[in-house]
Amino acid sequence: MEYTLEEVLTRLEEEMPSLSPTAAKVQELGNDINCPPGDLTRVIKLDPVLTARIMKLVNSSYCSPAEKIVSLEKAIIMMGLNTIKALALSVSVLTHFQGVEIKNIFEIEEFWKHSLAVGVTSKLIAQRRGVDKKIIEDYFLAGLIHDLGLLVESQFYPEEMTEVLEQADQMGLLAAEDYALCNLNHCLIGKALGEKWGFSKDLIAVLLLHHESTISGPYAEIVLTVHLADHLCRTHGIGLALDVAKEMDQQAVYASLGIPETIAEEVLQILPDEINKAMEFLKT
Ligand SMILES: [Fe+2]
Ligand SMILES: [Fe+2]
Repeated sequence: MEYTLEEVLTRLEEEMPSLSPTAAKVQELGNDINCPPGDLTRVIKLDPVLTARIMKLVNSSYCSPAEKIVSLEKAIIMMGLNTIKALALSVSVLTHFQGVEIKNIFEIEEFWKHSLAVGVTSKLIAQRRGVDKKIIEDYFLAGLIHDLGLLVESQFYPEEMTEVLEQADQMGLLAAEDYALCNLNHCLIGKALGEKWGFSKDLIAVLLLHHESTISGPYAEIVLTVHLADHLCRTHGIGLALDVAKEMDQQAVYASLGIPETIAEEVLQILPDEINKAMEFLKT
């Protein structure tokens, strides 16, 4: 068995279907800051299942609207173009992996619980940092997708992943991956998947760099937010807790994000309730 990024890219090409055409189009529109709302509505409505799921979400306690939202047009007006775009992508990613079997490697429900929890925690941290409401849902999406590389890794290399998980507690996940997969890991594989699916640059940075605690550059803020959210969820055993990298001091991360460490307590207090609301994403 070869463990190279080239092999991963070939297998992604041959074995991993594209994200839905609707999701691809939504992403294209999303990159255009002048995209008219009508265009997004038209694209999403081509997919009635996606439309129905978005409508359910916008009316759920996750979004808690002031009044019932009866149309996608109204949802975009009330919640903003970017929010609906992020919700559409979140739903598309979850739909894509529904029914994918991860044979006895880890509990898929626990994986999604971790992913949702990191999404919600990222959003809560961003809210406390005063991030613009218009882009807050991007933080949920970034947290939701951060570990997608683990799913691909488990599909492509099930035997090696079983070994990785056995070693992860002792060695740390990244070291265990290095050992069993010759320097391949879920971050590199996640980045390759993100590129294949046409994810935005900040999401790709999150996939690749979410275990780094000292980064700078244009995506540092969202990457470090997801990093901290991941750290909080893992150290508090929320969802799949296998993601054990060598634990680093988070002081530098708090400092880079310009937030006090007391935020952790605040976030953890409301987190169970917020995760429950986000469970709506897993309902078909
Ligand atoms: Fe990870
Ligand atoms: Fe994680």
